[in-house]
Amino acid sequence: MKLQTPVILLATALVATACADLGRSRDLANPAVAPATLAQQVCANCHGPRGVSVSPNFPNLAAQTEPYIVAQLTGFRAHERTDPPGFEYMWGISRSLSDDQIKGLAAYYSAQPPAPAQPIDEADRAAAAAGQAIFTHGLPAQSVPACMSCHGPGGAGNGGFPRLAGQHADYLRKQLLVFQRTNERPEGTVMKVVAHSLSPANIRDVAAYLQSLGSP
Ligand code: HEC
Ligand code: HEC
Repeated sequence: MKLQTPVILLATALVATACADLGRSRDLANPAVAPATLAQQVCANCHGPRGVSVSPNFPNLAAQTEPYIVAQLTGFRAHERTDPPGFEYMWGISRSLSDDQIKGLAAYYSAQPPAPAQPIDEADRAAAAAGQAIFTHGLPAQSVPACMSCHGPGGAGNGGFPRLAGQHADYLRKQLLVFQRTNERPEGTVMKVVAHSLSPANIRDVAAYLQSLGSP
């Protein structure tokens, strides 16, 4: 029996430190954990420490616009954005975030430097050139407007219009199909109209071009 006392004391001390160490907490249900801590301890596992992710399953968040990030996190939390990877990954994560933590996370990512420009593979050169034309001029014969008119010159985004420059092509393609074929992103009604008559080749082209863009 005698031996147990120090063990219990040590365990209690460890628990106390873990609770007090808000600077390294992974607790998604504690409003006292700072947004930058959540970003580095939790979100970083998928989105990268500064919002530039390795796998195209996870969108880049670096330099994304603040209002767009707030809107998406609020939409995941309210179960409004229902595309399958969105609810599988992001519903649980956003469930207990406070409004202030959401604002802080948006401020954190929007202030990070954008993903560096990706070199275009030789095989994608023609696609990216066709994609640049869609981005800049649209496809008037298919009633597709120029993406640039909302997403900004260089695809840097503007307020509620997300940054597309440097985003993973695979993620962009998936989202264009979500808009075109489903109602899983109810805030994307404008994009439903935009994407309506894009062909699979148009989608591949514009995504290849956007992924190749770095700053702004
Ligand atoms: C386990 C992996 C994982 C973790 C951890 C994670 N995310 Fe995500 N996140 C995803 C996936 C996957 C998507 C893409 C969902 C889709 O395709 O609709 C996503 C999408 C997003 C989006 C929407 C991006 C866009 O361009 O529309 C935001 C914003 C976001 N996450 C923020 C966060 C924040 C903030 C955290 C930490 C609190 C976090 N994520 C933690 C996997 C993760
Ligand atoms: C009339 C304005 C407008 C035009 C033109 C427009 N978009 Fe969008 N786009 C939006 C809005 C608004 C959103 C955010 C939708 C949401 O919140 O769900 C968006 C979202 C997106 C997303 C999702 C990004 C993410 O991180 O999940 C992609 C991809 C996209 N647009 C691609 C395009 C492409 C490609 C074009 C040109 C063919 C285009 N957009 C033209 C307004 C526009």
